[in-house]
Formats: sequence, structure tokens, C-alpha cells
Amino acid sequence: MMKILFYTGKGGVGKSTMAAAAAWQLSRRHRVLIVSLDPAHNLGDIFCVTLKNGAKQLAENLHLREVDLKKLSRDYLEREVTVLTDTYKYLQVLNLDRYFSILKYSPGIEEYALLTSIEETIRKEKGFDYIIFDTPPTGLTLRFLALPQVTITWIDRLMQIRRQILEKRYTIQKIRGPLKEGQKSPEIRLEFNEDEDGVIQRLKTMKNNYDTLNGILQGEDCGVVLVFNPDVLSLRESDRLIDGLNELGLPLRLLINNKVSEENREMASRVEKEFKKMAGEIPLQRVALSEALYCGTEQKLYDIPEDLLSNLQWKEKKDV
Ligand SMILES: Nc1ncnc2c1ncn2[C@@H]1O[C@H](COP(=O)(O)OP(=O)(O)OP(=O)(O)O)[C@@H](O)[C@H]1O
Ligand SMILES: [Mg+2]
Repeated sequence: MMKILFYTGKGGVGKSTMAAAAAWQLSRRHRVLIVSLDPAHNLGDIFCVTLKNGAKQLAENLHLREVDLKKLSRDYLEREVTVLTDTYKYLQVLNLDRYFSILKYSPGIEEYALLTSIEETIRKEKGFDYIIFDTPPTGLTLRFLALPQVTITWIDRLMQIRRQILEKRYTIQKIRGPLKEGQKSPEIRLEFNEDEDGVIQRLKTMKNNYDTLNGILQGEDCGVVLVFNPDVLSLRESDRLIDGLNELGLPLRLLINNKVSEENREMASRVEKEFKKMAGEIPLQRVALSEALYCGTEQKLYDIPEDLLSNLQWKEKKDV
């Protein structure tokens, strides 16, 4: 089965570097796709390559992609607007166009667009053994990982409301005959049967898709890697992330204490002790702070001595 990893953590702790290093190490024996979900992409820089149309093959077994969040959001909106206009053809009187043109400023569009792109990547890229997602800093990441569950809750409520509408239509039609809207031609008969109602059908499809995606995210082939540094701020933020992941039932599978040096060794041990309390059962990997690593030198940024995923355990779904 294809494995999926999300690299998360506070800004600047080394998510992208660790994700790149892990992808590189895995690609010696597996087919790996690494995807940057961070609008401020830097995987290209880490691998010292320029991408073409957001993609680049780095080695026989290693492919890199960077998502274009602006384009994703635009495409996402366009698709949704098409669905809406198709569903509500008869409501043109209400000047829906005006609503659509401001939809793009609505909060959450980028998170939905990102989520859609993750879903598509997982669904379409069956040819890989591993997909590694490099994510933006914690806040946004938790928000889009939470979206499937948030959305399912909304859809359930919307289906209830829609069912009530259909019931009312049915009652009214029984009283005064078939209901017509848009008196000018063409007349459209308003459905009251659930199986014929476009809105309910669309909600059902959406619910199915989000259920599937949620199943994948919570499943045994998916995992979150949490990167932190030996400092107190990093600890606080990680605490929040661990709580968030637990609440969402998303499996945390590896902790990386990155940038450990002679100077911060004591702090590193203290922080690790705290992590033991928060997430004792999760394996932990230390990564040393290395001398500034630049493109073109002997050691590449993504080529670090630590074996990054040897501790990773693919266990069953975490109990919540
Ligand atoms: N083990 C390490 N040793 C030395 N420098 C490191 C190490 N890990 C990361 N860095 C450096 O730290 C900086 C931040 O790393 P990186 O971009 O991977 O972090 P990030 O968590 O992805 O940041 P952002 O939140 O901005 O996406 C970079 O300059 C990187 O080279
Ligand atoms: Mg990054």
C-alpha cells in the first residue's frame, strides 16, 4: 500500500529540510513523490532545482511538485460555481453572479483548495510507494487537516435542511398541483423526490468523498511527522499540534528533534522529556545541527547522516 506522510511543525523548525531528506533517503529503495503545500515554496531551493510547471523529476525514483495555491483556489471556485449555476438555473432572477464574484474573498477557500489538491494527489498518484507532503506552519495545516470532519458535520446538517425543503414541496404540490418556478419559459418542475433532487445527490457525493478522504487520513498508511527544535516555543506549539491531532484522530508517527548541537544538548533532553509526557509512545529521532549546507558543496542540504525513518512505525489507527 502507498504510504502518506505529512511533515508539520512551527515555522522555521526544518519541516521542508526534513521532508526533503526523508524523500531522498526513501528514494533509494522506493518510488517517492514529494509535494510542497506551502505557498512559500522552498523545496526547489533545497534540492537546488528549478521546477517546470510546478514539477520536476529529481532522480529515477524521486519526483517533486509544488502546488500553485492561487491557481488551485481559482480552479476550485470555478468548479463550484459551475455546479451552483447548473443546480440553480431557475434562480437567475436572483443575480447569482454577483454572489459568485465575492465568493473568492470568502474565508476557507484556500484550505478547501489545498485539501482538494491533496485528495486528488492521493487518488491519482498510485504509482508511488510514498507521498510526502511538506506543509505550511502549524495553524493552516491543522485547519485543512480538520476540514473533512468539519465539512461532514456541515453536510449532515445541510442534508437535514434540504430534506425538510423537499417535504414541504411535497406537501404543497399535493395541495395545489405541480410546483412551478420561473414563470417565464422554460418552466422547471421542482423535485421533491430525494433520488431526483440534484442538491441532495450532490451533498451525498460530497459526503462520500470526504468520508473516504478522512478514512485515508486517519488510516494506517497515513501519518504525521512532527518536527521541532530544542527550545521552549517549539514545545508549546507542538503541544497544541499534538492535542489537535488527537482530537481529529490523525495518527502522529514520528517526532524529530532537529538542530541539536553541543550548545543546546541539555535543552534538547529537557524538551524530549516533555515530549515523552505528551506523546510517550511515539518514536523520536534526533537530528544534529549541521554546518551551513549550501548547494554545490560536497554535502547537499537533503543529504544528512541520520537515518530519518528507521524508527517510524506503521501501526494500526490510533485510538482516540
Ligand atoms: N539540521 C539542520 N542543521 C542546520 N540547519 C538546518 C537544519 N535543519 C534545517 N536547517 C535550516 O533551517 C532553516 C529552516 O529550515 P526549513 O526551511 O526546512 O524549515 P521549515 O520548517 O520548512 O520552515 P517554514 O516554516 O518557513 O516552511 C533553513 O535555513 C535550513 O537550512
Ligand atoms: Mg518549509
